[in-house]
Amino acid sequence: MNLQLQNKVIIITGGARGIGKGIAIALAKEGAIAVIVSRTKTESLKTVGEIEAFGGKAFQVEADLTNPQACEMAVKAVIDKFGCIDGLVNNAGENDGVGLQNGNYEKFMSSLHKNLVHYYLMANLALPELIKSNGSILNISSKTAETGQGGTSAYAAANGGRNALTREWAVELLPYQIRVNAIIVAECWTPLYERWINSIPNPEEKLKEINNKIPLGKRMTAVEEIANMAAFLLSPISSHTTGQLIYVDGGYVHLDRAIS
Ligand SMILES: NC(=O)c1ccc[n+]([C@@H]2O[C@H](COP(=O)([O-])OP(=O)(O)OC[C@H]3O[C@@H](n4cnc5c(N)ncnc54)[C@H](O)[C@@H]3O)[C@@H](O)[C@H]2O)c1
Repeated sequence: MNLQLQNKVIIITGGARGIGKGIAIALAKEGAIAVIVSRTKTESLKTVGEIEAFGGKAFQVEADLTNPQACEMAVKAVIDKFGCIDGLVNNAGENDGVGLQNGNYEKFMSSLHKNLVHYYLMANLALPELIKSNGSILNISSKTAETGQGGTSAYAAANGGRNALTREWAVELLPYQIRVNAIIVAECWTPLYERWINSIPNPEEKLKEINNKIPLGKRMTAVEEIANMAAFLLSPISSHTTGQLIYVDGGYVHLDRAIS
């Protein structure tokens, strides 16, 4: 299937590693120009190099997305370079464990800036170009919005916000034929996940336990499985899909808990 993404300029926040990197690679394999907006320039340049090595097109802009001015400069840099934006993947974020008991106002607000506020800002700033291109928006979100996790109020709230904004923008942007969807991730092996699992006692045992609870295949979702869905949702091939929260999670959130 040709996803018709050739030369489409698509911004991927946090595209230097993990899920974002997987999406950047999948898009570049389809001929799109993967524009990585991330805070770690060395890592972004490495990913750009990997993409160029297989003949793909990629570009990187360094920005700490918790800084609104950096978001503004990043979007401007993309427009200056390419003259258009055809898609936006809001992906950067981290599960930073700001809980009800261990948190406070400053930590809660700071986590919302890490995980939610830039989703809004990047869409707001890219919108004039997305309107011109009838582009598409994809928000990466987490199961925690629906299932809770405990000890991570701000991250769960941010993911609730990511899901709500997906529906809200899908409605607001109907007149422009801009489709807005979300992929909900449950357990996907990435550098972020590895850091998190190593931060809890008995990580190996815990990992086994988690794998056992994933219905399809008793294994974590691979980055490529998220990335393939992302490429499809950003492409005109999914032209009548909007406002959807799509769970690429091996059945983790919705299937019967009694399955063994
Ligand atoms: N890995 C999982 O199992 C999982 C589950 C649910 C949701 N998610 C979501 O997927 C997204 C990506 O997660 P991942 O596991 O690939 O993480 P990761 O840490 O492996 O990669 C995240 C990338 O985003 C960048 N980034 C983070 N905050 C940034 C900021 N403020 N400014 C600029 N760049 C920033 C990092 O530098 C890194 O390159 C996150 O939003 C996370 O909430 C992941």
